[in-house]
Amino acid sequence: MRKQIAAANWKMNLSIQQAEDLMDEILKMEYGLSDNQEVLIAVPFPYLMRIKEKLSTQKQFNICAQNSAATKNGAYTGETSAEILKSIDVFYAIIGHSERREYFHENNQLLAQKIDLALASGIKPVFCCGEPLSIREANNQNDYVETQLKESLFHLNATQMKNFIIAYEPIWAIGTGKTASSHQAQEMHLHIRTVLCTQYGHEIANSISILYGGSVKASNAAEIFEKPDVDGGLVGGASLVAAEFSTIIKSLKK
Ligand code: PGA
Repeated sequence: MRKQIAAANWKMNLSIQQAEDLMDEILKMEYGLSDNQEVLIAVPFPYLMRIKEKLSTQKQFNICAQNSAATKNGAYTGETSAEILKSIDVFYAIIGHSERREYFHENNQLLAQKIDLALASGIKPVFCCGEPLSIREANNQNDYVETQLKESLFHLNATQMKNFIIAYEPIWAIGTGKTASSHQAQEMHLHIRTVLCTQYGHEIANSISILYGGSVKASNAAEIFEKPDVDGGLVGGASLVAAEFSTIIKSLKK
């Protein structure tokens, strides 16, 4: 069975004190997670080491960066490379979040470079894809997402694809309170898996966890996660509330 993953994306929120308190609150609850379930916590860069320390005794919890650079090292003020992340034992990074695409002009080609560098440093990318509202309204979402996958991922070989997590996040559902229906999520996840299958074959396509993101909350997580091709969620707003996120973790398929 594929890994079922609840990933928190704290984005640019919380002071260090608030971040530590939130992490403590989340860890206070009992989850009884199986080996097949995993929780990722994507925090602002300055908090990576502190929150990682808190997770050190939690087998199923892992720290995650929210981004990593498209260049290896050097004079790139303000950037954090995959090598730097590796040097502090951070082995997951969100790559290609729609906010990075929109506000920082990251395109599919640049994301391909980020992915190559992340994989070269042993970092597992949580690669985000998803269409804006205009594309959904024109019913072109399948082609749009397929192009994102092709242009950023399809230069990779099958072994590299084994170290991958994909998050489908329709932009119109991020932070808007508007969630894709579980049916829409399943439909796109199946499409993504089919595209992966054509390129990499069944075994690889079936081994990659595909998370849904976009206004996942305690009240809708179970219904979305229960779909056969949905392997958990990437959660923004609701991951900032311990009670919400813990219910989301508990909603993962066993
Ligand atoms: P949201 O964000 O849960 O607040 O919609 C999801 C994301 O951007 O990863």
